[in-house]
Amino acid sequence: MGKVLAISGSSRDKTTNYMLRKVLEAFNDEYQKEIIFLKDKNIQPCRNCKSCHKTFKCAIADDMTEIYEKLIEADVILLGSPTYFDNVSGIMKNFMDRCLPFYFSGELAGRKAGLVSVGGFKELVESDKKGNCLWCKETGGCEKTVERCLNSMEYFCNLLGMKVVGKMAAIHGSPELKDRELLNLGKKLLDTSHD
Ligand SMILES: Cc1cc2nc3c(=O)[nH]c(=O)nc-3n(C[C@H](O)[C@H](O)[C@H](O)COP(=O)(O)O)c2cc1C
Repeated sequence: MGKVLAISGSSRDKTTNYMLRKVLEAFNDEYQKEIIFLKDKNIQPCRNCKSCHKTFKCAIADDMTEIYEKLIEADVILLGSPTYFDNVSGIMKNFMDRCLPFYFSGELAGRKAGLVSVGGFKELVESDKKGNCLWCKETGGCEKTVERCLNSMEYFCNLLGMKVVGKMAAIHGSPELKDRELLNLGKKLLDTSHD
């Protein structure tokens, strides 16, 4: 049985998790599917103690111990993060930092990866009279800030030797509009999972 593991970097059960669940829908019963919600986990920050450089193991004993095992067992890894200040969320970044052992061990090399991110300050700034996002006006488009979040996760995956098969952005809190694209990302991950 194949395994697909999704990692959610959202601090609430909303848009990012919607997107992850939709991508997972594309996987049939021959796949074991799981979402790890980082917000519920006890994950300490990387201490840069360098022990993983030689041992390939992290010296910290916390919830990452179990997550390391699940990542190694997964055929497909799906990362989802809301865009926070042009980047991944803090809990996703913390998770990424704690994956440093994989940089040295190469244990995740060849895993297929999918990336999803959401952004758009719909809840944080007001729209103009026509309903246009004010943040878009300031930055030249929320698409750009979400793209930078996706780029950060892609950089991470590439450094660990994973193969990013596809990535998806949703902006302005309307992930349902992206259902078809999310399912297609899932299908693409499914199709390439054993390549
Ligand atoms: C601290 C913080 C920083 C944010 N920074 C950005 C940003 O730089 N660009 C952006 O498009 N949206 C930004 N947002 C908006 C979130 O990406 C948006 O609310 C998203 O829907 C959150 O995902 P969730 O529904 O999974 O929680 C920010 C939100 C918070 C709370």
